[in-house]
Amino acid sequence: MPDILQNVPENDPLRNPDQKKLIDQILEVNRDRPGATMVVLNELQKQIGFVSEAMQAYAAKELKVPVSSVHGVVSFYSFFTTTPRGRHVIKFCMGTACYVGGTPQLIEKAKQLLGIDVGQTTPDGAITLEVCRCVGACSQAPVMVMDEEISGRVRPNKLPQSIRTLQD
Ligand code: FES
Repeated sequence: MPDILQNVPENDPLRNPDQKKLIDQILEVNRDRPGATMVVLNELQKQIGFVSEAMQAYAAKELKVPVSSVHGVVSFYSFFTTTPRGRHVIKFCMGTACYVGGTPQLIEKAKQLLGIDVGQTTPDGAITLEVCRCVGACSQAPVMVMDEEISGRVRPNKLPQSIRTLQD
C-alpha cells in the first residue's frame, strides 16, 4: 500500500474498494487535461460527495502537484466540502448587504438551534450549516438559502420554524 494511504481514517472513501476505484478512475481520465487539479476535485466532489483531507493528499500525489495547492483550491471555493453534507443545507449569505443586514445574528441563532458550528452537519445527518457569497438578492438582505431556495429578510425569530420544515 502506498505511504499516503497508511494514515487514512477507516471511514474514508479511499478505504472503500468501490469508492477507491471511482477515485482512481477520475484521476486516470482527467490527469492529463488542462487544469487537471480543478477538474479532478470537481469530479470528486460531485461523485463522492466531498473531498476529505486524505483524498486531497492522494489526488496531489497522483497529479504530482503540491498538496498545499490542492488544499488552497478546496478551501477557496465553497462548493467543496471536506466532510459529507447533510440531507439539507442551510447557507447564510456573507455578502456586504446581508452581513450588515444581520447575517451574523442569524448564524448565531442557527448555531444555537442546531447545536453545530458553521461547516458542520447535525449528528443525524439532516442539516449542514454553511455560509456563502452574495447570491444576487441583496435588496432582500439578509438572505438565507435552504437547499436551493432563497429566502429574504430573514429574522432570527423565524428560524426555528424554517428549520423545523427541514426536520419533518
Ligand atoms: S449580499 Fe447577500 S444576496 Fe447580495
